[in-house]
Amino acid sequence: MSPSATATNRTEPNKQYDVPPSVFTLRRNAQLEALYTIIRDKDTSRGDFIFYSDRIIRLLVEEGLNHLPVVPRVVETPTGAKYEGVGFEGKICGVSILRAGEAMEQGLREVCRSVRIGKILIQRDEETTRPKLFYSKLPQDIAQRYVLLLDPMLATGGSAMKAVEVIMEHGVPEDRIIFINLVSAPEGLKTFTSRYPLVKVITGWIDDGLNERAYIVPGLGDFGERRYCA
Ligand code: URA
Repeated sequence: MSPSATATNRTEPNKQYDVPPSVFTLRRNAQLEALYTIIRDKDTSRGDFIFYSDRIIRLLVEEGLNHLPVVPRVVETPTGAKYEGVGFEGKICGVSILRAGEAMEQGLREVCRSVRIGKILIQRDEETTRPKLFYSKLPQDIAQRYVLLLDPMLATGGSAMKAVEVIMEHGVPEDRIIFINLVSAPEGLKTFTSRYPLVKVITGWIDDGLNERAYIVPGLGDFGERRYCA
């Protein structure tokens, strides 16, 4: 098979999983697959992991912004002509789930100048084994904003669901939250979208499943470890 034929085959979308209507994946093409191949490779250096995961994060943030509503906006161009375009309807903010979600903040800042970004720390409660909120700092006017929730890995969905609960308690309607991640497990996507069907999920890749330690497979290992530890 010629290289170009291989590349064509690689543009086929993932057909093995019935994707819920609130879930949007990046278009599978050869470039995206090459980026994922690098960050999945256990031998990829930390520097390359950061560089290539940043490239994917940028694509995901741009895709997330595609789901924000726009209103008509007319401007005058330097030629004196009128251009009938659009502008974003509302204000946005980011909320990262610590610590791995912090890695996605820069990608959001590069696309949205001066964007406000809140933080949420959720960890397992050792007594109940359920996700527990340990810390949150959210923009004080978050209820008036669309929220881009940032967490690179959607495994069981526990942390993301807790984060959405916290954000909604601060007055944000469910349909104003867009959850952005790099890799999802079908199990987590199913649980998350059943509980929050109005939250849009933008995911770069839907993997095969979870292993016995709740890691995504094939996955890329522990995102935080690979990003922050040499
Ligand atoms: N978090 C990670 O960093 N990796 C996984 O596979 C699952 C959760």
